[in-house]
Amino acid sequence: MGLVIEIPDPCLVVLVGAAGAGKSTLAGRHFGPEEILSSDAYRGILTGDEADQRLNRVAFSILHRELERRLAAGRMTVVDATSVTSGARRQFLRRASRHRVPAVAIVLDLDPAIVLARNASRADRVVPTFAVRRQLGDVARSLGRGELDAEGFSAIHHVRTPEDLDRLEIRRVRA
Ligand code: GTP
Ligand code: MG
Repeated sequence: MGLVIEIPDPCLVVLVGAAGAGKSTLAGRHFGPEEILSSDAYRGILTGDEADQRLNRVAFSILHRELERRLAAGRMTVVDATSVTSGARRQFLRRASRHRVPAVAIVLDLDPAIVLARNASRADRVVPTFAVRRQLGDVARSLGRGELDAEGFSAIHHVRTPEDLDRLEIRRVRA
């Protein structure tokens, strides 16, 4: 049996991981399309190019508006964005807490070499290596000094190996 993660239903799932770590793949495997709010998807709608960072702020404001709507309705929601910094996560946590919906983090904490290799060999879009390295550093910092532990997530789950990622099972426990 692989890694089993139990999450309350409903909850807000915040995926944390560098580009190439596998967030969108995980979300697509374990959640319905309507449950996933993806910053890249909104960027793609706005610009025709998911990698275009120019309308990043607009993309995130749309994401937050949708998140607000879903949390208010008590719907299970996954945020598919890197969320590698405390500042990025805080906004999602605040919103969930305002609606009394538990927020759960799933950290894709794989070997940096694997993440870099997966990013480099992607078919969709390759994120510049320096950017992935910076994100990997942000993830390490978030975990290193207990930063993530102190942020207010009701649970923090770690996916550390490709095997865990491949064989992951997510069980929803009715709140
Ligand atoms: P960004 O959207 O750039 O932040 O990346 P991401 O974290 O969403 O990564 P994504 O899910 O797009 O995966 C990146 C690459 O790794 C893709 O080419 C995937 O096919 C591959 N990948 C992701 N998860 C797995 C996995 O569990 N097993 C294998 N073999 N490959 C995976
Ligand atoms: Mg993605």
